[in-house]
Amino acid sequence: MTKITTSTFKAHKMNNEKITVLTAYDYSMASLLDQAGIECLLVGDSLGMTMLGYEDTLSVTMEDMLHHTKAVKRGAKSAMVVADMPFLSYHINDEEAVRNAGRFLKEAGAHAIKLEGGINIKSRIQAIVAAQIPVMGHLGLTPQSVNMFGGFKVQGKSEKQARQLIEEAKMLEELGCFAVVLECVPAKLAKLISEQLTIPTIGIGAGNGCDGQVLVIQDMLGMFTDLTPKFVKQYANLKASIIEAATLYAKEVKEGSFPEEKHTFKIDDDVINKLY
Ligand code: KIV
Ligand code: NA
Repeated sequence: MTKITTSTFKAHKMNNEKITVLTAYDYSMASLLDQAGIECLLVGDSLGMTMLGYEDTLSVTMEDMLHHTKAVKRGAKSAMVVADMPFLSYHINDEEAVRNAGRFLKEAGAHAIKLEGGINIKSRIQAIVAAQIPVMGHLGLTPQSVNMFGGFKVQGKSEKQARQLIEEAKMLEELGCFAVVLECVPAKLAKLISEQLTIPTIGIGAGNGCDGQVLVIQDMLGMFTDLTPKFVKQYANLKASIIEAATLYAKEVKEGSFPEEKHTFKIDDDVINKLY
């Protein structure tokens, strides 16, 4: 199987082929998504919410991210693995940002990192790219800024905000990012930005004009329903399936109908008889 790389992203943009991205946080899911041909697995800091039960992504640590990235990497045979840099792992200074970004490649086997922001983290991106670490940018509704935004809100609706988004997207391209996530950006604006960039845009809540799409895996499988944003499409209803399966299991254990003989291991009768 061919390995997906930053070159694949470039080629897809040139050939007008959409790029498929989903989040993954563990080995078994990564392995299934890889088998399905998903091109890029993003170990998002959304794992703080989906896997760890926090209300937002701010509490996620480098150790959390490395732990999950290692697991995803073991399941990803063809897919490119991109690790999200958690809150405060790249905000202090360029040195810390490079050191932390490097840990994802060095210790966890990721192929690239993603971080949130534009002009505010310009020198960080420059330093990380200079260290030969591929960077995926992330603009629009950047969840680590939730307290500055005053909630999870669509970004770029006013002319001023929209102009700034376009400028920042171009800046990310100039700094050497290989792709940029556009989150909760009006569809027409995301399309315009996608047309003006030579690097691919990966949309989430940003419409069909982006060069690729990403969704949070629990959202699209219908198994995380604490939040149900408008941009999510549920491709399965695993919540119902899981609850049904667990309910049936509980019933069968209570009534003694599970396990059946076929689920058990045998011992010779003369051995067991001697024990009575
Ligand atoms: O953390 C995450 O899952 C993300 C994607 C939704 C882009 O950043
Ligand atoms: Na994220």
